[in-house]
Parts: sequence; C-alpha cells; structure tokens
Amino acid sequence: MSIQLDHIYHGDCREVLAVLPEQSVDMIFADPPYNLQLRGDLWRPNMTKVDAVDDAWDQFADFAAYDQFTEAWLRGCRRVLKDTGTLWVIGSYHNIYRVGRILQDLGFWILNDVIWTKTNPMPQFRGVRFANAHETLIWCKKSADQKTYTFNYHAMKQMNDEKQMRSDWALPLCTGAERLKVNGAKAHTTQKPEALLYRVILSSSHPGDIVLDPFFGTGTTGAVARKLGRRFVGIEQDGTYIEAARARIAAIAPPLLDAEVYGLYETKRTAPRVAFAALLEHGLLLPGQVLYFRKRPTQPRLCWPMVRCGLPTVHVARSTRSGR
Ligand SMILES: C[S@@+](CC[C@H](N)C(=O)[O-])C[C@H]1O[C@@H](n2cnc3c(N)ncnc32)[C@H](O)[C@@H]1O
Repeated sequence: MSIQLDHIYHGDCREVLAVLPEQSVDMIFADPPYNLQLRGDLWRPNMTKVDAVDDAWDQFADFAAYDQFTEAWLRGCRRVLKDTGTLWVIGSYHNIYRVGRILQDLGFWILNDVIWTKTNPMPQFRGVRFANAHETLIWCKKSADQKTYTFNYHAMKQMNDEKQMRSDWALPLCTGAERLKVNGAKAHTTQKPEALLYRVILSSSHPGDIVLDPFFGTGTTGAVARKLGRRFVGIEQDGTYIEAARARIAAIAPPLLDAEVYGLYETKRTAPRVAFAALLEHGLLLPGQVLYFRKRPTQPRLCWPMVRCGLPTVHVARSTRSGR
C-alpha cells in the first residue's frame, strides 16, 4: 500500500502503521494517551467540575497494558520512519518515563528532552502537591549510529533572538480562538498549542518532508505542517476528532511563499543571494536608505539581505525605514 499524503487514516495506529510502507516518513510527532489513571471527579473550590482528561482512549487496565501498547506503536513508528528521520514524543510524568525506557530498549537514541513549561497551567486545586506546570518532549533518532538527521539549528536560533535555542520552552496552553469548540465545549481535552508544533516541525524537518502523527486528535500537527509547507499523515481512531481536524486543516490556505523560503537554505553559506538591485527594483529598499546590522544598531552599514530557514529576513532597523 502506498502512503497517502495530507490524509488522516481512520483506525488504530498499531494496525495502520503495520500496513504503511517501510521508511516512508521523515519525521514523527506522537502525543499518545497519558494513562492519567484519574480516580473520581475533580472539583474547583467554587464547586465547578474540572474538565479533566477522563476519556476512554486514555484508560488502560494497568502499567503492563500501557507498556504493551506503547511498545507496539513505537515499533510501528520505527518501521515507517526513514533511517534519516527523527521521532518526537510528548508526555507527562504519568507516562513519559515509561515511554522513554521503551523507546531506548527498541534502539532509539535520545537527542534531547525538551521541557514545555506551561505559562498558564491549571492550578493544583486540592493544594496537596505542586501545580503540574510542564510536559516533556523526547526527541530521538533511530539509533546511536545514525549519522544524518535534520536539525535546523539556525532557524531555531533565529526564533530565539539569535541565541541558541534551549531545551526549555515557555509557551501557553492552547486557549482562546485556537481552541476548537463543538457546541461551546472543547472539541478535544488535550489539543496542543500550535506554537509547540511550530518549534518541533520547523526544527527537525524541511519543506516538502512528510510528517506523521499517529495520535492525530484534532490535527494540530497537520495544521502546522500545512502552514510550514510540509506534508502530513495523520492516524486517529475517533471519527469525531477526524471531522474536526479535517475542517480545521481545510480552512488553512497553503503557504503564500514559495517552499524554498521555508527552510531549504539552512545556513548563510547555502542561502541564495539576492541581487541588491533587485530589492531596489521591487521597492523593498529605497535608494539612499540607511541599513543597519541588527547586532550593531548604532553603526550604519550596508548589509546583504538573506533568506534563511524560516522566514525571509531583511536586517533593516525599524527606525530607518523612512530615513533617506
Ligand atoms: C493526547 S491526544 C492527541 C491530541 C492532539 N495532539 C491534538 O492536538 O489534538 C491522543 C489521541 O490519540 C487517539 N488515540 C488513542 N489511542 C489510539 C490508537 N490506538 N490509534 C489511533 N489513535 C488513538 C485519541 O483518540 C486521541 O485523540
């Protein structure tokens, strides 16, 4: 069976992964069930019920059942991931240690664990332990010996104000207009913020690459992949979530800019040069305009605009735009 791109497979990811072609995807992002094992309802001090993750898809008989499930889907991912690809898994303290051990046992090699610090976490209503304010992402390659994999170092640095991107990311939970609703209620209890997926996909894939998400939910991975000019493959067992994801992704216009500016040129050396005259001809710069190096804003100099991974950047200090 050939792989269908920009498509959501409806079914159990263990079964779907088993029939997808071997080594057919460039990157995987997985947001599996957490196995939260909640006991009883949770109430706020004002006696409103907390919208907790108590969905059937998150229930497992015991740790052994969860481990068996985890090993099965991770094996499936390993088979369909190219030998140059990488895998991301996100989880909480409930499951991430188990997932980490299993993926290491399967031969995956951890490149980083990233802490997503939630800037707006849910409070700990009972006051009996710390507010749970982060999740962990494990980023790994297929084996210790894997020589090649994608890491868009410069794109990440650019996103971080020209400093090396660190492994602790402070981002808000998915709220407001981004949160999908059905009849006023959350469409999904664990919809991830797009900002998180921007970092994941931008850092470890190229435009045109195939990004697989075996626990697609409401399609956050697909939505961001589409915005960044990547192809997606989703797997989800719940038809209601698939409907929500399809509508969400269909509403996204394909990238306006040519895919080339979305990351094919990762370094200054490989970035295409733009003729200075062409910028003048197209009215992007004005004759006589003073340009500044961003890092030395007080020293006017001519600088060469450069297209880098991510977005095109012209290093012109704002205050000089109208200056002649
Ligand atoms: C943590 S949620 C993912 C949420 C998603 N990242 C988003 O932003 O909407 C896990 C999803 O996996 C789905 N799921 C659970 N077990 C599955 C399985 N065996 N095969 C496919 N999907 C599964 C659930 O229905 C749920 O939507």
